[in-house]
Amino acid sequence: MKNEHILLFDNVSKTYKKPGFIKSFEKKALDGVSFSVSEGEVVGLLGLNGAGKTTIIKSIFSIIRPDAGIIEVFGKNPREESVKKNLGYIPELPYFSPLSSAYDVLCHYAFLSGMDAKKISESANEILDKVGLKDRKNSKCSEFSKGMLQRLAFAQALIHKPSLVIMDEPVSGLDPIAVKELRDLIAELNLKGTTFFFSSHSISELEKLCSRVLIIKDGKIADCINRERWQDQGDSLENIFVEAVKK
Ligand SMILES: Nc1ncnc2c1ncn2[C@@H]1O[C@H](COP(=O)(O)OP(=O)(O)O)[C@@H](O)[C@H]1O
Ligand SMILES: [Mg+2]
Repeated sequence: MKNEHILLFDNVSKTYKKPGFIKSFEKKALDGVSFSVSEGEVVGLLGLNGAGKTTIIKSIFSIIRPDAGIIEVFGKNPREESVKKNLGYIPELPYFSPLSSAYDVLCHYAFLSGMDAKKISESANEILDKVGLKDRKNSKCSEFSKGMLQRLAFAQALIHKPSLVIMDEPVSGLDPIAVKELRDLIAELNLKGTTFFFSSHSISELEKLCSRVLIIKDGKIADCINRERWQDQGDSLENIFVEAVKK
């Protein structure tokens, strides 16, 4: 059966708290966030710094625990093993062991994702080619530039061919060629059915890639915009965003 909503947030809230002797710290980062992502979509999460994008993404992977609300991936609790195997993730700050080669990193991630051992080597070579790191497969991560590490982050997120890929600012800090190549890769995989959900503060990137954009402001979804609105109806995403965050 086709599972329509493959990512669901229902009234999710999170307050960061730090107890202190004189003054305790509290910051409401998410305030009743509800949205869903359907199979085959490319959905962007657009917001200013501190709006709550990373908190949303980390809560999908239980890196932070929301105080209230429900999160479902493929209709299940995201902590279930069957869900994790089908999810790809690029964190805000990807980290790879400096002494490992790109190839070793990918084999390690493929193993963790439960991939059939016989397919790991072939898949690692295939994805290294797709992200433009074929010639550097044996180089150590310590020798990689920021852009190369980000390409490797894409490779680790995609090696096990997940059906949902979640990315936190995936193209930040990349040069224009890398941005174009990785955008083309996302479009190619989306055509084959992969769903993408990613945060960005780059309006032009979101305009090019997304079928829908969620605007987040102060931990709340302020607007949800379909591509038709900026593509066919002449409203620029920039204007829509500025209006939404000024309100
Ligand atoms: N670990 C944390 N402890 C305290 N406050 C945090 C923590 N992580 C994020 N915040 C705060 O929560 C808000 C949302 O942060 P974040 O989700 O990282 O925003 P974004 O990714 O949109 O820039 C910000 O005000 C940020 O300072
Ligand atoms: Mg962030």
